[in-house]
Amino acid sequence: MTLIVTGGAGFIGANFIFYMLSIYPDMRVVCVDCLTYAGNLSTLASVMGKANFRFVKISITDQKSIGKLFEEEKPDIVVNFAAESHVDRSIENPSVFLETNIIGTQVLLDAARQWGVKRYHQVSTDEVYGDLPLDNPNLFFTEETPLHASSPYSASKASADLLCLAYYRTFDLPLTISRCSNNYGPYHFPEKLIPLMIANALNDQPLPVYGQGLNVRDWLYVEDHCAAIDLIIRKGREGEVYNVGGHNEMRNIDIVKLICKELGKPESLITYVSDRKGHDMRYAIDPTKIHEELGWLPKTKFSDGIRLTIKWYLDNRSWWEEIISGEYKNYYERMYGGRQ
Ligand SMILES: NC(=O)c1ccc[n+]([C@@H]2O[C@H](COP(=O)([O-])OP(=O)(O)OC[C@H]3O[C@@H](n4cnc5c(N)ncnc54)[C@H](O)[C@@H]3O)[C@@H](O)[C@H]2O)c1
Repeated sequence: MTLIVTGGAGFIGANFIFYMLSIYPDMRVVCVDCLTYAGNLSTLASVMGKANFRFVKISITDQKSIGKLFEEEKPDIVVNFAAESHVDRSIENPSVFLETNIIGTQVLLDAARQWGVKRYHQVSTDEVYGDLPLDNPNLFFTEETPLHASSPYSASKASADLLCLAYYRTFDLPLTISRCSNNYGPYHFPEKLIPLMIANALNDQPLPVYGQGLNVRDWLYVEDHCAAIDLIIRKGREGEVYNVGGHNEMRNIDIVKLICKELGKPESLITYVSDRKGHDMRYAIDPTKIHEELGWLPKTKFSDGIRLTIKWYLDNRSWWEEIISGEYKNYYERMYGGRQ
C-alpha cells in the first residue's frame, strides 16, 4: 500500500504522516512538498531515515514532475494537504493561492485519474462555508450549507472542492473531501493564533489580537483531524463531503487569556490591533454525518489539548525560534508592525 501525502512538511500533513506511520508501520508513505515558507523539513526528521518513507521536493503545480512521481510510485491513495493556508497572506497576495490551491489540485486530480488511484482525498476547510452570525448559537455548518467563501484563501479552497466533485461526477474518480474546523497542536507554524500567542507570551512580547477578539472558532486537536481523515479514506463513501469538528467553540480573546494563564503571563501583554479585512465572525461545524456514518468522535478535550500543545512549544523551542528568527520576521512586521 503506497500513500502520497502532499504538503507533508506543513502542520497537519506532518502530523498525518506521523499518525499513519504509527498505525500502519508497513505502509509506504511518500511526502510531496515544495517547502514554501510554511514547509519545514526538520519537522520530518523523525521519519526521514525510515525505509518506507520518501520525501520528494516538488510543487503540486508541476504537472510533469507529479506525473513522473505517480508513474514511479503508483500510489493507492493520495491525500492532498498542500496549500497556501494563511488568510492574511491571501489578502496580501491572492495569486499564489489560486495557483497552488486550485491549479495544484487539478494537476493532482489528473495524475490520480491517469494512474488509477484507488482513493483521492482532498483536505478542505470549514471556511468554504463563509461565516455564521454571533447572535445565533444554534446555527452550524452542515455538508448542505451553501459555499459562501469570504477570503481569497477560502474562495480558492471552495474552487478546489468544486473541481474535485466535478472529477467525481465526470470521470468517476474515487474521491472524498473533508472540511475541518481550526486545528491546533504540535508543529503549527507560528503565524497562526495559538502558536503565535504561545511564542510571543514566552518571549514577553505583545499579544496582538484582531478587533475585540470576539471572533469564534471551533478548535480541534490535530490528531483527531488525522484520525478522521484515516477513517474517511478507509470507510467514507466516494463522492461525499464530511465535515469534521469538535463542538468546541471559543472566542479568540478567551484562548489568548487561557494561554496567558497557563504560562503565568500577565494579560497586560494583550494588545488590540485593527481588524482583518472581511474577518469571519463565527465558524461552527455540525459533525453529525461523520459521527453517524463512520463513528468518528474527537478524543482530545480542549483543556488537555491546549496543555499538550503548550508543553510541546516549551519542549521544542529551537523548532519555532528558528522559524521566527528568519524571513517570518519581515512578514510579522508587515502584518502587525503598523497596526494600532
Ligand atoms: N490549519 C488549520 O486549522 C486547517 C483547518 C482546516 C483545513 N486546513 C487545510 O489543511 C491543509 C494543511 O493545512 P496546514 O495548516 O497544515 O498548512 P501549512 O501552511 O502548515 O502547510 C502547507 C504545506 O503545503 C506545502 N505547499 C504549499 N504549496 C505547495 C505546492 N505548490 N506544492 C507542494 N507543497 C506545497 C508547504 O510547503 C507546507 O509544507 C490545507 O489544505 C488547509 O487548507 C487547515
